[in-house]
Amino acid sequence: MKEWLIFVAGLAVLGLAALGLTANVENRATVTQPIAFNHQKHSPFLTCTSCHTTVATSARAGIPGKDFCFSCHQNKVTDNPEPEKIRNYVEKRQEIPWVRLFRLNDDIVYTHEPHISAGIQCQSCHGDIGSSAAGVTGFGRKGSGGQYGRDLMDACLKCHEQRKASTDCYTCHQ
Ligand code: HEC
Ligand code: HEC
Ligand code: HEC
Ligand code: HEC
Ligand code: HEC
Repeated sequence: MKEWLIFVAGLAVLGLAALGLTANVENRATVTQPIAFNHQKHSPFLTCTSCHTTVATSARAGIPGKDFCFSCHQNKVTDNPEPEKIRNYVEKRQEIPWVRLFRLNDDIVYTHEPHISAGIQCQSCHGDIGSSAAGVTGFGRKGSGGQYGRDLMDACLKCHEQRKASTDCYTCHQ
C-alpha cells in the first residue's frame, strides 16, 4: 500500500515537473526599488497590517499607496532626502511602481487569510523584516537565503504536517 502511494506521488511529481513548475521570483540584489524604503525605520510606530492592510482578509497582503505614505511625508520627518520622491509621485498622480519580490508560480494556490486566521506570525514566513533596513528574507527570495522551488514546498509541507493542515497535492497545486 505504502509503495503504491509513493509510486503515485512519484508520477505526480513527474507530471507537475513536466508542466514546468518553477519559482518565479525576483532577486532583491538585482532589483532597484523606486524609493529606498526601509522597514526598520517604520516598524517602531507602524504595525505590519497598518501598511499591508488586506493580509488578513484576502489573498494579497497589499502594498500601501502613495497617499498613505504622503500623509506623513508631506512634512519633513527625516533628514534623509529619499522620501521627497513620494512628493513627485503625488504631484504626477502616479502610483509608486514597487517591484514585487515574492511571487509564487501562478499554478500555486496560496492565500494569506487562512494562515493569519490560524495565528501564524508574518515572521515565520518572511523572516525578521521589521528589523531589516535593506531587504526582505524568507519565502520566495531566490538569491539571499529565501526559499523557492522544492525547498519552499518542503517548508510549506513541514508546517502543514505539524499543524495538521492539508498535505494533499491539490491543496496547493491547481
Ligand atoms: C502546502 C502546499 C503544497 C503541497 C501540499 C504540495 N506542494 Fe508542491 N509545491 C508547493 C510550492 C509552494 C512549490 C514551489 C513553487 C514556487 O517555487 O514558486 C511547489 C513545487 C513543486 C514542484 C516543483 C519543484 C521544483 O523543484 O521546482 C513539484 C514537482 C511539486 N511541487 C509536486 C508536488 C506533489 C507531487 C505534491 C503532493 C504529493 C505536492 N507538490 C504537494 C506547495 C505544495
Ligand atoms: C510604512 C508601511 C509599511 C510597514 C509598516 C510594513 N511594510 Fe512591508 N512593505 C512596504 C512597502 C512600501 C514595500 C515595498 C518595498 C519593498 O519591498 O521594500 C513592502 C514590502 C514588503 C514585503 C515584500 C513584498 C514583495 O513581494 O515585494 C513583505 C513580505 C513585507 N513588506 C512584509 C512586512 C512585514 C512582515 C511588516 C511588519 C514587520 C511590514 N511589512 C511592515 C510597506 C510597509
Ligand atoms: C506614520 C507616518 C509614516 C508613514 C505612513 C510613512 N512613513 Fe516613511 N518615515 C516616517 C518617519 C517618522 C521616518 C523617519 C524615521 C527615522 O529616521 O527614524 C520615515 C522615514 C522614511 C524614509 C527614510 C528611510 C531611511 O533609511 O532613512 C523613507 C525612504 C520613507 N520613510 C518612505 C516611506 C514610504 C515609501 C511610505 C509609504 C509606503 C512611508 N514612508 C510611510 C514616517 C512615516
Ligand atoms: C504561511 C506563510 C506566510 C505568512 C504567515 C505570511 N506570509 Fe506574506 N507571503 C507568503 C507567500 C508564500 C507570499 C507570496 C504569495 C504569492 O506569490 O502568491 C507572500 C507575499 C506577501 C507580500 C507581497 C505580495 C502581496 O501579497 O501583496 C506581502 C506584502 C506580504 N506577504 C506580507 C505579509 C504580512 C504583513 C504578513 C503578516 C501579517 C504575512 N505576509 C504573513 C507567505 C506568508
Ligand atoms: C507556519 C505554518 C505554515 C506554513 C509555513 C504554511 N502553511 Fe499553509 N496552512 C497552515 C495552517 C495551520 C493552515 C490551516 C488553516 C485552517 O485550518 O483554517 C494552512 C492552510 C493552507 C491552505 C488552505 C487549505 C484549505 O484546506 O483550504 C493553503 C492553500 C495553504 N495553506 C498553502 C500553503 C503554501 C503554498 C505554503 C508555502 C508557500 C504554506 N501554506 C505554508 C500553516 C502553514
